[in-house]
This record gives sequence, structure tokens and C-alpha cells, in this order.
Amino acid sequence: MTEHKGFTSNFGAIMAAVGSAVGLGNIWRFPYICGQYGGGAFLVVYLCFVFLIGMALMMTEFVIGRRSQHSPVKAFSTLRPDKPGWRFVGLFGIITCFLILSLYLVISGWTLNYVGDTATGALANMDGTMLDQHFSHFSSSAIRPVICLAIFTIMTAAVILGGVQKGIEKVSKILMPILVLLLVVMCVRSLTLPGSMGGVEYLFKPDFSKLGAAGVLAALGQALFSLSVGMGVMVVYGSYIPKDDNLMRTSLWITVCDTLIALMSGLAIFPAVFSCGLEPAGGPGLVFKVLPMVFNSMNPVTGFPTGTVFAVIFFVLLVTAALTSAISLFEAITAWATESLHIRRTPATLVIALCVIAIAAFCSLSLGPLNHIHIAGMPLFDLVDRLTAAYLPPICALLTVLFFGWVMPGADIHDELSNHGTLKTGYYPVLRFLTRYIAPIALLLVLITGIFGN
Ligand code: PHE
Repeated sequence: MTEHKGFTSNFGAIMAAVGSAVGLGNIWRFPYICGQYGGGAFLVVYLCFVFLIGMALMMTEFVIGRRSQHSPVKAFSTLRPDKPGWRFVGLFGIITCFLILSLYLVISGWTLNYVGDTATGALANMDGTMLDQHFSHFSSSAIRPVICLAIFTIMTAAVILGGVQKGIEKVSKILMPILVLLLVVMCVRSLTLPGSMGGVEYLFKPDFSKLGAAGVLAALGQALFSLSVGMGVMVVYGSYIPKDDNLMRTSLWITVCDTLIALMSGLAIFPAVFSCGLEPAGGPGLVFKVLPMVFNSMNPVTGFPTGTVFAVIFFVLLVTAALTSAISLFEAITAWATESLHIRRTPATLVIALCVIAIAAFCSLSLGPLNHIHIAGMPLFDLVDRLTAAYLPPICALLTVLFFGWVMPGADIHDELSNHGTLKTGYYPVLRFLTRYIAPIALLLVLITGIFGN
């Protein structure tokens, strides 16, 4: 048995896992990729992947974690002690977490900076060109982004130091409802602006000509990233889930919440963008360059700085979402360090924080002062982005699902899903089929296309 204590309640477990799933992927990434690949067309494919493959993977990770009561590296070898080689899948997951966290912290640092920039009114009088220059200048400068990411890492580490119950569970139970409330305020404001329906149409009207193979791949990648599966994070959270929790119901709740929040983010962003007559295809810079412009345009209407207030609300929302996701990535690494390297929680947290700040700082600097240093033909930021978006999570997800479908004893899986025979598991044959055939084939296709398509 591990020394860690788990979540105290089913609600706490759901909030923590929703906190992990809902992040920059929902608010910053989903809306612009959805728009880019044909709105409703992308949405249909995305929903299929989320509910068929993403949710099956989440259940897979929960079962592996709760059954073994270990973090990924030990989990695989505990469930099949005769096949110790599988523990490398767990190690692979930890490396993936480390890299994703480094990149995540850079962007989270930007969101923190924008809370400051909007609150002090620094952006209030800027037009589109100035906002564009402001973002480029900020993100490529040497000091400020690094300070921001370091502050964000310290915030994350502080929660980890608080432990699973008093840190992660408590913070998630407070922050997630606040996040939903802020998002509802943003949606209402955005949808009541004149001309906002153009944005709703952009988001939902299917345009299959824009989808293509690239869109299908992006949908699967986004489904994995958004549900935080394919790197062992949910194995760790699974090991904290109470034994009487219904894993199927919990996974469904998390998947539904994550999807609704992604859709609400789209509804908070695009109607406002359209209402201001701006270009919706803002790409990754959408929330940092285009949205401040939208907020600025709300200011003169009333004389009261309404736009500034909404801008601050929006960036606080982003920071909140990013924080609970970063916590889960950090916790996965901490759980591994305490369990496999036998380091106590406090020193482990501090060492991980320092390492991750160092890598994140290099990623950030590679967008500016160190831009000339290329690894595998690209700056570090782009390399880590490419690895963590297209390759590592699908590989890890594929191996996890193969372990679950073909290596882990079926009786153990059934016993864990049914809470020792006390719950009905009529869905079990479907899950088995999905994890044995559909998910591996889909993930393999993504990988092959990702490798040869680039
Ligand atoms: N799911 C998070 C998001 O949508 C990102 C994340 C990925 C968090 C993997 C943890 C693990 O932003």
C-alpha cells in the first residue's frame, strides 16, 4: 500500500478530476481549433472521440490506478508482476507529464500576466496592431514571462505541498464552481451583444469541407488532451478515488462537464468576436490578442469600464482553469517521486518545482533571446509542443489501452468496475471492445498519420 491518502468524498474526487480536465485546452485551445476545422463538423467528430475513446481511456486509467493503489510506474507492475516491462509505460507517462507541464506553465504564466495587464488598464487604449505587438513583445522578452511562470509554479507547488485532501481536493472544490460561475457570466455577456449570432453559427454550423484528415486528427488529439488522458494523470487520481465510487458514473460526469465547459468557452468567445466584426481565425493568439480588443470595444459604450471588468474576469477564469490542470500534472510527478524514488513529499515538490521552472524558462526563452538555438531543427518551445501534442500522449494512451485490453486480467477489471460485484456493469462488453480494438486502431492511425504527415 502507498503512504498517500486519497480524496475524502466522491464529490471531491469529481471536482479534482474535472479540475484536471478543464484547463487551457478547453478555454484557450478548443474554440479556435473548432472554428478552424469547420465548426459543427469538427464538433461531431470531437464528440464521438470524447465519448468513445476519451471516456474509455479515462475509465481504463481509473481502474488501473484504483485497483493497484499506485502511481503509474508501480501500477502496471503491481497488476501484472510477471510482466515488469510494462512499468516503462508509466515512466513514459511521467516524462510526458513533465514536458506538458513545462509548456503549460509558460502559457499559464502568460494568463497571469494578462490578469495584471488588464487590471491595471495597460491594454485599455490599444488597437489591434498595438495588442498584437504587445503580445509578441511580451512573449518574446527575457524576464517577465519567466517571472510569471515562476510565480505560477510556486502557486501550483503550494497546493501540492498542502497534500491530496487539504491541497488538491479543497482547492478544486472551491475553484471549479467559481470557474463555472465566471464562465456563465462571460457567456451571457457575449451572447447578448448585438450581432452575436454570427459567432454561434461559426461555432456550430457544420462545414465539412474544412474538416479533412487533419481535422479528424486534431479532434482525437484534442479529446485526449482535454480529458487529461494518455499520460498517467488519471491513474494517479484513480488511486485517490474512494473505493465505493462508481467509476463509470464518475468518468461520465467528468466527460460531460469537460465537454460542456469547452462549448461554453466557445460561446463566451466567438459571439463577442463576431459582434465586434473581428476575424475569428485568430489561432493560438486569439485570447491574448483578439479578446482584449473585444473587451476594449465594450468600454466606451457605457462610460463605465465594463470591458475592463470582463477582461479581468476572463483572465482570472483562465488562470483558475490552468491552475487545477497544472496541479494534476505536478501531482502525477510528485506521486512518482515519493513512491518510486522514496523522496518525501516536501523535498520532492521543491525539486520538481525547480526542474520544471528551469525547463519552462528555456521553453519561454526559446521564443525570444534563445530563438537561434534549434534542437531537431526547431526552437525548444516548438519541439516540446510538437512532441506533447502529436506523439507522446497517443503513444502512451495506445500502450495503456493495450495493457488494459490484452494484458490486465479481465476478472480484475470487472471486479474493480463493479465494486466487487455490487454494481451493475452492463456496459462492460462495450468497454472491452472499445479498449481491445477501436481505441488501439484509432490511436495507431493518429500516430502513423502524425509521423508521416509531418
Ligand atoms: N486537460 C487539460 C486541459 O484541457 C490539460 C491536461 C493535459 C492536464 C494532461 C493534465 C494532463 O487544459
